[in-house]
Amino acid sequence: MEKYVINGGKKLQGEVEISGAKNAAVAIIPAALLVDGVCCIENMPQISDTDMLLTILKDLGAKVRLINKSTVEIDCTDVHNGDAPYDLMRKIRASYYLIGAMLGRFGAAKTTMPGGCNFGVRPIDQHIKGMTALGAEVEVKNGFVYAETRDGKLHGTRIYLDKVSVGATMNIIIAAALAQGRTIIENAAREPHIVDLANFLNSMGADIRGAGTDTVKINGVEKLHGGTYAIIPDQIEAGTYMVAAAATGGEVLVKNVIPRHLECISAKLRETGTIVQEYGDSVYIKGASNLRRTNVKTLPYPGFPTDMQPPMCVLLALAEGTSVMTEGVYDDRFKYVNELRKMGAEVTVDGRVAVIEGGKPLTGAPVHACDLRAGAAMVTAGLCASGTTVVEDIHFIERGYENFVGKLRALGADISLVNFPEEPDNADKVIAIG
Ligand code: UD1
Repeated sequence: MEKYVINGGKKLQGEVEISGAKNAAVAIIPAALLVDGVCCIENMPQISDTDMLLTILKDLGAKVRLINKSTVEIDCTDVHNGDAPYDLMRKIRASYYLIGAMLGRFGAAKTTMPGGCNFGVRPIDQHIKGMTALGAEVEVKNGFVYAETRDGKLHGTRIYLDKVSVGATMNIIIAAALAQGRTIIENAAREPHIVDLANFLNSMGADIRGAGTDTVKINGVEKLHGGTYAIIPDQIEAGTYMVAAAATGGEVLVKNVIPRHLECISAKLRETGTIVQEYGDSVYIKGASNLRRTNVKTLPYPGFPTDMQPPMCVLLALAEGTSVMTEGVYDDRFKYVNELRKMGAEVTVDGRVAVIEGGKPLTGAPVHACDLRAGAAMVTAGLCASGTTVVEDIHFIERGYENFVGKLRALGADISLVNFPEEPDNADKVIAIG
């Protein structure tokens, strides 16, 4: 069983290069199904979520070729609608994009209900509302989603989202790209990866306007053609290194980023006394000797990202005084706090609010990654703690961070990937879906 072993207490120093955005990549790969031709996707993050989606596409008949470490060529000319590997679909949240992509390409889709990190109930009713409005008949039965159009085509329409949903906005954009007529999504989410998906599709011949605002207009086109596209840098990966640099009192240049996408994180870091300087495509972080407390509320973009909530809680646990973290997106995203408490953090949780009595030293402990970003938070805590921290269930972390150990080691962290022998009483353990 692989675990991360961290000997904490080292300040992160140096430069780190950010990979392509996971949440853009996991939509762009399914969206490639719509393309009648070869698309070459650059800045593709090498993480397990993208690996799984590429495998699913191959199963549907796509030819996938790795050109180099971060460039993938996908040829969907000869894809066919068939049974996709459901065991893989079930493991990732982003498999929901296959509903929109398969409906758009084949006029029908059978997928599993998506997996993904467990932050309480994560319904996909807004996705289904969107697909139904576009003319599909959708049924959810025994953990599967069955969707079918009557005449093989989706039809553009006006869709008002009852919740600001990243996934539903992107899924409807994908489905509507080849639909007949015009689709208007109102109350759309505005995350940078939504703009990236629209830019990818537009570069292949789609006609999508307004991505990045709360009204997205999609004029369906007959066909998408091949082309080359580079994915934007990952906002959350960048934010994780920024917070880790600040939490360890280090000095790090975070490279290959779009500083505008990071403003929501930079602003909060500055409130803690961290120096944040923005350059063209990099951000310089210098940790404060005395971190200051602050309050944070997570919100849809351009608010503070919910995915940065767990690492930010670690930083606040180190800042003198009482900080309040309010989770504005999910009902249940503080499960990892129990693990953080094992390391000496004083955090109490009441529903969507965590009160952090900061300034207590963290000490190394065996902890586990409850999900992807909680796992990143455990690593951040381990980097700041005295002694040794062993992080289990790292498969969650590897879903979203390319070469996490390598990048942290290059910044001077004492972290290693260690293969522990399987514990007998865990032999039958069911791995929670990540
Ligand atoms: C995406 C990201 C995830 C991030 C989240 C919010 C991917 C693969 N994942 O997840 O990392 O934490 O955005 O930035 O891109 N909701 C409904 N019904 C729906 C859809 C969502 O009630 O049909 C609710 C969710 O339960 C949640 C809120 O709306 O409370 C926002 O969810 P959403 O923006 O859809 O998140 P995801 O797309 O699942």
